[in-house]
Amino acid sequence: MLAGKRILLIVGGGIAAYKCLELIRRLREREASVRVIMTAAAKQFVTPLSLASLSGDKVYDDMFDLTDETEIGHIQLSRDADILMVAPATADLMAKMATGQCSDLATTCLLATDKPVMIAPAMNVRMWEHAATQRNLEILRSDGVHVVGPNEGDMACGEYGPGRLAEPAEIIEALSARLGSPLDDLEGPRLAGKTILITAGPTQEPIDPVRYIANRSSGKQGYAIGAVAANLGARVIIVSGPTRLDPPPGAEVIPVETAEEMLKAVQDEMPVDVGIFAAAVSDWRTAGASEQKIKKDGSGHVPALELTENPDILATIAKDKKNRPGLVIGFAAETENVVENAKAKLERKGCDWVVANDVSPSTGVMGGDENTVHLVTSDGVENWPQMAKSDVAARLVDRICNELDEGVWT
Ligand code: C5P
Repeated sequence: MLAGKRILLIVGGGIAAYKCLELIRRLREREASVRVIMTAAAKQFVTPLSLASLSGDKVYDDMFDLTDETEIGHIQLSRDADILMVAPATADLMAKMATGQCSDLATTCLLATDKPVMIAPAMNVRMWEHAATQRNLEILRSDGVHVVGPNEGDMACGEYGPGRLAEPAEIIEALSARLGSPLDDLEGPRLAGKTILITAGPTQEPIDPVRYIANRSSGKQGYAIGAVAANLGARVIIVSGPTRLDPPPGAEVIPVETAEEMLKAVQDEMPVDVGIFAAAVSDWRTAGASEQKIKKDGSGHVPALELTENPDILATIAKDKKNRPGLVIGFAAETENVVENAKAKLERKGCDWVVANDVSPSTGVMGGDENTVHLVTSDGVENWPQMAKSDVAARLVDRICNELDEGVWT
C-alpha cells in the first residue's frame, strides 16, 4: 500500500506528461506524498503550477537557488524519497540515465540516489523500437531500474504501436508492488491449517473445436486473493479458467475451461473452510458443441447458436448441506444497480458475503488493475474506495481472518 510512502516524481518532456497530473492526484488519494522534479522540456507540456498545486509541494527544477542547495540539495531530494519514479521517461532521459549523465537536476538526482528507481517510458514507436533505446533499456534493467509499460496503442503523433505511457493505475500498481505489498499489514500464519478454494478467470464454452464463448475476465482479482491467503499460511486452491497469469507463490492452480469442468473440479476439492467464487462463469453454453468446425458454405446461411444454462457453481456449493464451506463468498459483476443486485444475489445464491463491483466499460475493471467494490453481508453494505485489486484482496482476506478470530465460523 502507498500510504505514507514518499515518491520523488521526475517528469520528463513528452506529450504524456499531462498524465502525471492524474498520477499525482491518485497517489495523494492513497496518502502517498509526492515531490516533483521537472526537466526543462517537461515545462513545455505541463506547468510547474499545476504540478505544485496537485502535489501540495513546490516543484523542483534547474532554477533551484542557493537556499534550495543548502537546505535541500539534490542528494537530499533523493534521500528523502522511498522511490524515484520517472514518468514519462523519454528516450533522451533513458539515454542519459543509461550513460550516467548528470546535466540537470533530474539526471543528477537519478545518479546520486541509492533508492529504487522506476521508469515509465513514453515516446514515438520508432524511437522506442530503435536499437539504441532498446540497448539503453537493457542497461537500465541490468542496473536494477524497474520498468512499467509502455503500452501499445494509438499515439499522439498519429502512429500506432508500443510507446504509450502506462496508465496511472498501472504505475500505481507497479509502485505498490515495489514499495510494499498489501501483505505488509497482514503477516503471520493467520490462516494456517485452513483451506481456501477460489474460482477465478473466465470460462470458455466451446461452439466447435476452434470457437468458444468467453468473457473479458482476467482472473486478476481471484489470483490476488489467492496470493494474500497463501502468504498467511492457508492451503490455497485456485480453480481457474484460462488466464495469462502465473500461479501465486504457494497456491495450487487447477486449470479448467468450461463451467461444467469448473463445478466438477470445485466439488472434487470439497470440503474446504472458505469458498470464494470470483470466476466470471458463463451463464450459458452451447446446447451441443459441434465436433467438427462449423463451415461457412457460401450460401449466406447463418447458423443459429442454441444455448443452454450452465450450472451455478456458487449456488450449488452454497446450498450443499453436506459439503458447504464455513464461509461462502460470491462476487457480483454488475453494470447497473450494483448494490441492489448484490443484495438479491446474496439471498438467491445462499452465500454469506457478496463482493459487488461495477464492471461498466467506463470503470476499466475487467482486465484492469483497480476495483471499486461494495461488501454486502447480512449486516449491511460497506462501500470500499477505489483501490488496486491487490489491496481489495488484502482487505477481503483481512476480513476473513477477523471473522475467523471472532469464531463466527469454524
Ligand atoms: O449471477 P452472477 O453471474 O452475477 O453471479 C456472480 C457470482 O456467481 C460470482 O461469484 C460467480 O463466480 C458465481 N457464478 C457461479 N456459477 C455460475 C454463474 C455465476 O459460480 N454459473
